[in-house]
Amino acid sequence: MPEIIITKNLIHLRNAHISYIIGILKGGFAAHLYFGKRVEAFNPASILRRHGVKSPEEFSEQECALNHVPQEYPSYGLGDMREGALIVRAEDGTASCDLRLVSAEAEDGKYALPGLPASFRENAKTLRLKLRDELLGLEATLLYAIFEDCDIIARSAVFMNRGKQTLTLERAASLCLDLPDSRWDLVTLSGDWAREREIIRRRITPGEMSVSSLRGASSYVASPFTALARPETNEASGEVLAAALVYSGSFYAGVDVGSRDTARLMLGLNDRHFGWRLEPGESFTTPEAVLTWSDQGFDGMSAAFHRLCVEHIVRGKYAHAPRPILLNNWEATYFGFDEEKLLTIAKKAAEVGVELFVLDDGWFGQRDNDHSSLGDWVVDRKKLPNGLKSLSEKVHALGLKFGLWFEPEMISPDSDLYRAHPEYAMQIRGRTPIEGRWQLILDLSRTDVQEYVYNAVATILRENPIDYVKWDMNRNFTNVGSLELSPERMRELPHRYMLGLYSILERLIREFPDVLFESCASGGGRFDLGMLHYMPQTWCSDNTDALSRCRIQWSTSLVFPPFAMGSHVSAVPNHQSGRITPQQTRANVAMSGCFGFELDLNKLPEEEIEQVKAIITRVKSLRQTLLYGDFHRLLSPYEGHDTAWITVSPDKREAVLMLTRDLAQPNTDAPMLRLRGLDPALTYTVEETGETYGGDELMTSGLCIPLPWGDAASVSLTLRA
Ligand code: DGJ
Repeated sequence: MPEIIITKNLIHLRNAHISYIIGILKGGFAAHLYFGKRVEAFNPASILRRHGVKSPEEFSEQECALNHVPQEYPSYGLGDMREGALIVRAEDGTASCDLRLVSAEAEDGKYALPGLPASFRENAKTLRLKLRDELLGLEATLLYAIFEDCDIIARSAVFMNRGKQTLTLERAASLCLDLPDSRWDLVTLSGDWAREREIIRRRITPGEMSVSSLRGASSYVASPFTALARPETNEASGEVLAAALVYSGSFYAGVDVGSRDTARLMLGLNDRHFGWRLEPGESFTTPEAVLTWSDQGFDGMSAAFHRLCVEHIVRGKYAHAPRPILLNNWEATYFGFDEEKLLTIAKKAAEVGVELFVLDDGWFGQRDNDHSSLGDWVVDRKKLPNGLKSLSEKVHALGLKFGLWFEPEMISPDSDLYRAHPEYAMQIRGRTPIEGRWQLILDLSRTDVQEYVYNAVATILRENPIDYVKWDMNRNFTNVGSLELSPERMRELPHRYMLGLYSILERLIREFPDVLFESCASGGGRFDLGMLHYMPQTWCSDNTDALSRCRIQWSTSLVFPPFAMGSHVSAVPNHQSGRITPQQTRANVAMSGCFGFELDLNKLPEEEIEQVKAIITRVKSLRQTLLYGDFHRLLSPYEGHDTAWITVSPDKREAVLMLTRDLAQPNTDAPMLRLRGLDPALTYTVEETGETYGGDELMTSGLCIPLPWGDAASVSLTLRA
C-alpha cells in the first residue's frame, strides 16, 4: 500500500515508485519540496537553500520573497509575483489570501468529490491538508491521493467560507506544482475538428505558456493535459511530468517560468469562465487533477495514465469488458433513411459478424437536416412508422444489439421545445443568440432543464430496448447567460452547466447500468477523463481516414488507452479527407480501439465482404488484448512515414503489432522494428509468418516487418508466446 508519513516539518506521500513531499515552514506555510522518483528519506535543507530559505524553522515571508519559494497552493497578493492558484475577493474589494496550516491528516482510501467526476478505488491513501486564512475566515482543504497500483497523485481543493462576509473565488486551480528548474519542454495536445490532439512540443522560456478552452467543453482545439519533458526525453526514456484534468468544461493548463529559473505548472478551471460566490457557510470544490511522473519517457507516462483510466476512472459493467463491434449508419445514410434502409444495412452487418447496430442523428422530431428538432426526443413516424421499439426489436431479431444517438444538451430554435420553453436556452437577455449548427445550448445550470433532459433520454431508454447510447455535443458556448441565475452568480454558469451535465449523466448511468454510453462532440471535441468517468468510450474523431487516424490515435494514446477510443472503418474515398486507402489498412488502425464500421456494407464488393468477415473474426479473438493490453508506441507518424504500435496482453503471452506506412518509399529495405513490452524470457511465434523469435531478440535486434507494396500499406501481426 502507499504511505503518507507526517512529521513536524514534512509530509511524504509515496508508493513503490514515486514520492511527493510537502514542507511545513514556520507559521504553517505549506511549501512544495519534491515530486519524482521514490526516495526513502528527505532532508529539506538543500531544496530550501536553493530557494533562499535557511530552514523550515527560520522561514519568514517578511524576509524572503515568496516569489522564489515553492508552494503547494500559492495565492495572489502576498509577494509571490507569479500566477498563483487562488484569487479570493473579499467584500471590501481587495484580493489577498494567506493560507496557513491548521491540520494534516492521512486516511485510508481515496477521497470522493460529490457531484464531480473523480478517480476512485480503495487501494489509495488520502491526505487532507487543512489551511486557513484567519482574516477572511476561509478554510481550504487541499486533497491529495496516492494510489498503490499506478504512479498517480490525484489532487483537488475544497473551500469553505467559515467567516461572516461573502467571498468570491475568482480563481481556484486544481493543481499547482512548483519546480526548482525550468529545463523542460512543454508538451500539449492541440488541434481542430478532424485533426484532434496534435502533439505540440516547445521549450519553456520565461513567462507564461498555456493552452486553454473557453468553449464550455474541453475541446478539440486544446486538451486538458500538459506534460513537462526534459529536452532529451523521448518515447522510451527520460524524465517526464504530466498532468490532466478530470473535467470536461473550459479549462486552463499552463506553465509559468519565474525569476531564478523556477517553473510552475498549473491546471484548473479557466478564470474567464469562472467565479464563485461563497456566502458564509458555503463551500466549493475544484475539479480533480491527476499528476504523474516517469523516468521511462512518454511510454512510462502513458502507462500510468492508461492504468488510471482502466482501474480508477471508468466505471460500470463495460469497464473491463469486451466492447461490441458496432456499425453506425451516419456516413452510410446521413439523414436520409427509413426503417427498410436501416434494416437492410443492419442485416448485412449481422451477416458479417457485427454485434451492435447504431442509429445516428435524424430519427426524431422532423430532423431531415441539422436545422431543427434538437430537444424534441420523439421518434419521427415519417421515417420510422413502426416506432423505435419495433425497429429495435427487429434489429435484435437479427442477433444485433441496438444503439441510439442523442444530442441532449442542445435545443434547436426550430423545435417544439424551444417554442414552448425559449427560456431553457443559454442566452443573454436582449441579445440575439448566436447559433452554431443552427442550434443553441440548453442552460443545464437550471434544475428544470436538467429534469427535462434526464426525462427525455430516460423515457426513450425505458420504453425501448436500447443497449448503447451515443451522446453527442456539436457546438460550443456563446452568449454565456442564464435567465435564472442572479447577476452575482452569472460567472458560475459555465461550471454550473458542467455540474448539471454530470448530475444528469450520473442519474442515467445509475438507472441504466446495462447501457453502454459513448461520448462524442463533433468527433473528439470533448475527449477527457471527466467524460470517461461516465461513458467508457469516446468517439475519437469524425476523421476516420486511416492515415489521419494514425496521428490522431497516436497522440490520443498519450493519455487514453485503446478501450477509450471509438475507431471505425469507413468508406473510401474517405468523407473527410477524400483519400482512398486499402480496407485492411483502415481495419488495422481501427482495431487498436473500440472497433466498428461507419458504412453500408451492402455497397462493398464480395471479396471485401470476405475480408470484413475475416477482420471481425480476428478482432473478436484478439479484442481483450487490443482493448486492455499494455499499449506501446513504436514509430511516430510525427517523425517519418511509418506509424507503429504494439499492444501486449497483461500476461505477455499475446501481442498485436501494427505498422502503417503513409507513402511508399521505393528502393528501401523493409522496416526493422524494435518491439517493446514483451517478456524477454519467452519465445514468440509470429502467427502470420510462422517465424519464432525470443522476446529479448524482438526487443533488441528487432523484427523485420513484411510490409505490402504501395501507399497506405499496413500490416498487423499477432505474436504468441
Ligand atoms: C457529430 C458526430 O461526431 C458524428 O459522428 C455524427 O454523430 C454527427 N454529429 C451527427 O449529427
